[in-house]
Amino acid sequence: MNKPEGLESTTHLLLMPPQEGVLLVQLNRPEARNALTTELLIQLAEVLDQASLNEEISAVVITGGEKVFAAGADLKQMASLDMVGVLNDTRPAIWQKIACFPKPLIAAVNGFALGGGCELAMHADIIIAGDNAKFGQPEINLAIIPGAGGTQRLIRTVGKSLAMKMVLSGEFISAEEARQSGLVAEVTSPEDSVSRAIDLARVIAAKSPLAIQQAKDVLLNAFETHLDVGLQYERKAFTVLAATEDRNEGINAFLEKRKPDFKGR
Ligand code: HXC
Repeated sequence: MNKPEGLESTTHLLLMPPQEGVLLVQLNRPEARNALTTELLIQLAEVLDQASLNEEISAVVITGGEKVFAAGADLKQMASLDMVGVLNDTRPAIWQKIACFPKPLIAAVNGFALGGGCELAMHADIIIAGDNAKFGQPEINLAIIPGAGGTQRLIRTVGKSLAMKMVLSGEFISAEEARQSGLVAEVTSPEDSVSRAIDLARVIAAKSPLAIQQAKDVLLNAFETHLDVGLQYERKAFTVLAATEDRNEGINAFLEKRKPDFKGR
């Protein structure tokens, strides 16, 4: 299959042609352990932007290397920024674009996901981890703190005590600890993490894209709001979906004992 326009591999990202609605993106800076330069983040945000517009793509899987998912912000680049440089840094805006990707994003993590690497994994909606994965926010060892959501997303995901332990000590947690704490959905063998993430993405890609996007939006909104407002938001999305052809198709297909054929309308 030809790659859809705008979805070519870049200097820091390898893209596999989408199959069954799933695009696989691999971070590709092995010489620097997939450290996240501004260029890499820009390329990732652009790929996700293209994927969001592309009807052939219903979900994206992001992965890194066998031993390192991503070693965090590129420290060589970071070393060159003084306080004003950090103040004017474009990276927060790039992270924001990644966070706003409206389709499901699944991270398949093998090896180290550290600092910005752990934060990138937490930008995914679902994390599948190889049993060799290590998650950590070791910024404290550099006399800095996480700067791409690592404090906020971690505490909301794993709770106060574990988030404090990770951020204040810099200690890593294993894939299994990450699963037990809710950071990771499933642990597989390292060889199977990408294929499991793709299989899961295909399951999701077969659903109505309208319902999937509403579900993602409403779920993420739970981090932003009070329960009563979140419940109203959920109800509004539920109501909007009642006006879609896909909703009628889904219910009719069940009643007629056949597979639904969703059109995204
Ligand atoms: C730049 C990095 C890097 C990084 C590794 N490298 N991590 N370059 N930024 N974050 C480079 C090394 O300098 C080295 O380059 C090469 O990659 C191989 O690194 P090694 O350490 O020899 O590899 P290895 O023994 O396999 O260990 C892998 C590792 C370790 C455990 C991931 O590299 C590591 O601990 N990295 C730093 C992790 C970290 O502190 N991350 C937090 C960053 S701060 P040369 O040229 O010598 O071959 C952060 C803040 C986020 O993320 C803020 C918002 C984004």
